Amino acid sequence: MIEELRRANMRVNICGLEWKNPVATAAGTFSARESGRYYSPDLLGAVTTKGVSLLPRAGNPTPRIAETCGGMLNAVGLENPGADAYIEDELKYLKARGATVISNVAGRSPDEYVEVVRRLSETDADMLEINVSCPNVSEGGMTLGVDRNAVASLTRRIKAATNKPVIVKLSPNVTDICDIAAAAEDAGADAVSLINTLTGMRIDAKSGKPVLANVFGGLSGPAVKPIALAMVYRVARRVRIPVIGMGGIMTGEDAMEFLLAGATAVAVGTAALLDPCAPPRVAEELRACVASYRDPLERF
Ligand SMILES: Cc1cc2nc3c(=O)[nH]c(=O)nc-3n(C[C@H](O)[C@H](O)[C@H](O)COP(=O)(O)O)c2cc1C
Repeated sequence: MIEELRRANMRVNICGLEWKNPVATAAGTFSARESGRYYSPDLLGAVTTKGVSLLPRAGNPTPRIAETCGGMLNAVGLENPGADAYIEDELKYLKARGATVISNVAGRSPDEYVEVVRRLSETDADMLEINVSCPNVSEGGMTLGVDRNAVASLTRRIKAATNKPVIVKLSPNVTDICDIAAAAEDAGADAVSLINTLTGMRIDAKSGKPVLANVFGGLSGPAVKPIALAMVYRVARRVRIPVIGMGGIMTGEDAMEFLLAGATAVAVGTAALLDPCAPPRVAEELRACVASYRDPLERF
């Protein structure tokens, strides 16, 4: 795999689409206009946009972000302008700048997911990522993604509603992530991405109150990387479709670990909230890691 990447000058083929390198942004941590002030989105393999629902959503009450040791908690709750505004504004803006766009899809119900997918299918979005793993909403999101039958049924309906490649984004908050990945694959998913955030919380020791208004939030950043890596390693051995790995990637070496674990591509999330240029920097550092890598004689 690494040798192949070197020979292809970092280009990867994912679900029939060529990415110029295996690095994408992770949903919810990239904004077309803000990130666009720092780098051109076409430097990356792909950009994944924030979860979009049918109608605008205000998200959860504040505070909805808290720092933790080695990471952060967020309970943003899928704030977004709704599908029509997203299509007219952010998607058009990114496509006009030559980006390969993965539109991340949210919904309160299977019907809502399918309707958003239908609308996106009429646009030039390149791939759709179905977020069945958001821990910060009471309907849809992770409530669907922890149930293999619900994931299979939704994936089947979405595949019937679109010709675009469908990535199912998996939750780590399950007993066996391989089982859910296999259910998505059997139902026709073209790829899986993992991991979304892990449920966590903080309590203010002085007031005794939860720090987040939502009480719980999703943990992301370097603290989750070993968990994400182990999950990617296991899922990549279970399914035949491409795996997009994410969780705590801060450097090219982190990204390289995910590729060695079996991911075809990676996404950079929390790192971009610290340093907006992290995604293109990780892509450049990964190029150097790939160039200097020598395959070990024995595989682990
Ligand atoms: C502020 C924030 C917002 C997020 N919003 C979304 C989202 O809308 N859809 C989604 O599928 N994942 C969302 N995620 C999860 C990330 O895409 C990613 O899966 C997770 O944070 C792990 O990667 P990281 O440790 O590199 O951040 C969000 C994460 C953060 C930190």
